[in-house]
Amino acid sequence: MATFGNGRRVAIVSGVRTPFTKAGTAFKSISAIDLGRLCVTELVERTNLDGKHLDLIVFGTVIPSVLAPNIAREVALLPILPKGVQAFSVSRACASANQAITDAADQIALGHADIAIAGGAESLSNIPILHSRGFSDVLMSANRAKSVGGKLAAFSAVRPADLKPVAPAIAEPSTGESMGQSAEKMAKINHIPRDEQDQFALRSHRLAAAGTADGRLTAEIVPVYVSPRYETVVTSDNGIRESTSLDQLSALKPVFDRRYGTVTAGNASPLTDGAAAVLLMGEDTARTLGYEPIGFIRSYAYAALDPGEQLLQAPVLAAPIALERAGLTLADIDLVEMHEAFAAQVLSNLCGFESPAWAARAGLDRPVGTVDRARLNVMGGSIAIGHPFGATGARILTTLCHELGRRGGQFGMLSVCAAGGLGHVMIVERAS
Ligand SMILES: CC(C)(COP(=O)(O)OP(=O)(O)OC[C@H]1O[C@@H](n2cnc3c(N)ncnc32)[C@H](O)[C@@H]1OP(=O)(O)O)[C@@H](O)C(=O)NCCC(=O)NCCS
Repeated sequence: MATFGNGRRVAIVSGVRTPFTKAGTAFKSISAIDLGRLCVTELVERTNLDGKHLDLIVFGTVIPSVLAPNIAREVALLPILPKGVQAFSVSRACASANQAITDAADQIALGHADIAIAGGAESLSNIPILHSRGFSDVLMSANRAKSVGGKLAAFSAVRPADLKPVAPAIAEPSTGESMGQSAEKMAKINHIPRDEQDQFALRSHRLAAAGTADGRLTAEIVPVYVSPRYETVVTSDNGIRESTSLDQLSALKPVFDRRYGTVTAGNASPLTDGAAAVLLMGEDTARTLGYEPIGFIRSYAYAALDPGEQLLQAPVLAAPIALERAGLTLADIDLVEMHEAFAAQVLSNLCGFESPAWAARAGLDRPVGTVDRARLNVMGGSIAIGHPFGATGARILTTLCHELGRRGGQFGMLSVCAAGGLGHVMIVERAS
């Protein structure tokens, strides 16, 4: 199997994100494009990057604006950057920032680019609300009508049901199953009890609160002055509950299977607004320009499975491929960062890593292995920090590299599950 990079290592030079805020709260007036711009501006300024060296911006988003669908180009048109920076947008559900990062890294490895910014943004406060098919037809007929009478006649065809707005659902188009229902199913199949999910959620909040209090998480965050009045500044994630407890978590009612379910608002990631981005360079370019990279991409892999099966389990299939491409095993990995869509999903993924049956599915003789909990999501994860779909991958990569550096670790692994039965795993390494 080919090793990523063909000899040209891709350096992660730096990473920055906005605070992650629960949808409908602090950032409800800020679009995903503006969140992306704030984040990229800060990344350029923190790294003192001369915009004329920047070749490419790749950005991921899951629910794009219908008016400006290429978010990457809107971000690239920042006044601090030259107009000639290439830009394209990608979507791989919750692994969209990861797709942006690997696309940019591929371009660097190929020698088609030397310096790229990759990341993603999401504003779940600003999702497009669509008209029903019936109301769209009425609007189009009214638009075509030549007279006022004709326009009024078109509107007379409106039925009350036509006025019902259509919003994007967090559900699988192929199966109709929502993410939360999938998490419920995974909890049942993998025998993950409610108590274990709540314990995991509590851990996420406690570790994220500690990472915020001691400045490790806030160091990765650009403070955001909130438009339109710019009187309030947000400096940290607003979903982290320092004082939550097992009692509080276990008192919450299940959301997706009200009678027999175990998935609650407490052990699920919240709907979130935010942006995150990383600066990538060819190792040679970074050295020439005098940058000290925070990590290097050693390998990555994507995998997919039937969305009707265990929707969020594909990282289990991607991990062995990424590890093999890296020439490593789980025992070599110093830190693991897993996206926490739901506690049930993380715990199911961990079971899958240990399972001979999943190993066989991935074409392996032995399972990936047991992830040492002391090395897992050491500053919490998406349950506490939040999960702006298109941005999370860049947050995780930045945190992983920084924490590896602080701990003097060599190798890190990150995993992200995504809608469509998709999964991503990346292996990073510190300089050696
Ligand atoms: C689960 C979900 C439906 C909950 O949405 P919500 O009801 O708006 O959530 P809230 O934040 O209002 O929380 C509901 C209640 O639980 C409480 N709660 C949530 N987390 C808590 C915690 N850690 N400790 C204590 N209480 C908590 C809230 O205070 C709130 O209580 P209230 O009703 O008394 O105000 C929503 O977050 C969701 O859809 N998440 C999944 C997103 C998803 O599918 N992502 C894709 C993954 S890849």
